[in-house]
Amino acid sequence: MTHEVRGVIARSKGTPVSVETIHVPDPGPGEVVVDIQACGVCHTDLHYREGAINDEFPFLLGHEAAGVISQVGSGVGNVKEGDFVILNWRAVCGECRSCLRGRPQYCFSTHNAQQKMTVDGVDLSPALGIGAFAEKTLVAAGQATKVDAAAEPEVAGLIGCGVMAGLGAALNTGGVTRGDTVAVWGCGGVGDAAIEGSRIAGARTIIAIDLDDQKLQWAKGFGATHSINSSGMTNDEVIEAVQALTEGNGVDVAIEAIGLPATYEQAFFARDLAGTVVLVGVPNPEMRIDLPLIEVFGRGGALKSSWYGDCLPSRDFPMLIDLYLQGRLQLDRFVSEKIGIDEVEDAFHKMERGEVLRSVVII
Ligand SMILES: NC(=O)c1ccc[n+]([C@@H]2O[C@H](COP(=O)([O-])OP(=O)(O)OC[C@H]3O[C@@H](n4cnc5c(N)ncnc54)[C@H](O)[C@@H]3O)[C@@H](O)[C@H]2O)c1
Ligand SMILES: [Zn+2]
Ligand SMILES: [Zn+2]
Repeated sequence: MTHEVRGVIARSKGTPVSVETIHVPDPGPGEVVVDIQACGVCHTDLHYREGAINDEFPFLLGHEAAGVISQVGSGVGNVKEGDFVILNWRAVCGECRSCLRGRPQYCFSTHNAQQKMTVDGVDLSPALGIGAFAEKTLVAAGQATKVDAAAEPEVAGLIGCGVMAGLGAALNTGGVTRGDTVAVWGCGGVGDAAIEGSRIAGARTIIAIDLDDQKLQWAKGFGATHSINSSGMTNDEVIEAVQALTEGNGVDVAIEAIGLPATYEQAFFARDLAGTVVLVGVPNPEMRIDLPLIEVFGRGGALKSSWYGDCLPSRDFPMLIDLYLQGRLQLDRFVSEKIGIDEVEDAFHKMERGEVLRSVVII
């Protein structure tokens, strides 16, 4: 049997998304069907619609979601009908060379559903293997992580992508700890989550850097102790401003949450000796950087990239929801607006204009 539900589809490159009837099959072995309750609008959804990820149209967009398990296939042990879950795009395989070395947070062979959801008889490509701007979606059981149902779906879902990426860039990849100084380039949802993570970890100085005063204002709400509006500033001026806020030294952890060579360079040079640079912003394939190799050596420390905040959903999602329910993690601040399933295209434009941190579709 298949279920007929509404979903947000990107049919072809650059054309506005549409709400259409899709077909969701009953779950097969190792699969579950989830009734989606809320799904945040992420930049990656827009990248799919623009054809910037791949050409496998039509896409079923949406991947930052929470909902309730409505059906489980055979052999599913981690969740059952009625469980409140956050969806993830890191269902670890347990068998690849990274998993076998005890590093499942980098799993190189993550699981997705085997069966296809369809529109007009054509197979859909679900965004990040999820596809959650829909009343129901089909995922691999490992993509559903059970969390405390006391959390509202519109905030819980955010943990599934951008907020996890930012929190994890600080907490997991950057290893921010009590007493550290941190600077974050780019104060969108991801950068603000890195600021929030740094605050939770006990950083003593957290410097927010952006071109937009409104974004810097929001960043302070998450725990930035200082801010720099870098519009019109040269790289050297930004670096000097960070040094001036850290007794001339630079920061222990420099987090780049934009994905640009210029800001990566600023982060590289605005870091203290033996400090860590974390690249969480996603560059495009044409971008290049040119750094003096002697500086790479002489400054020591680490240059790291952060994929999905190096998270392990089964470890991190329930813990973060518990921190939220205790009032220690500010998730509500990320929700700029709640919208209907037919307002995703508008939400993309608001995102492009920098007016929102997150629009969340309530389903
Ligand atoms: N590594 C991962 O796993 C992962 C996961 C999700 C998102 N991302 C990436 O993280 C990045 C940020 O995502 P987001 O949703 O927060 O995006 P966003 O567009 O909401 O935020 C980017 C911010 O950077 C600011 N900015 C732009 N150019 C700047 C400059 N030259 N100097 C200073 N500030 C500048 C903008 O004003 C904006 O506030 C994106 O590249 C996204 O693709 C990475
Ligand atoms: Zn693996
Ligand atoms: Zn995302």
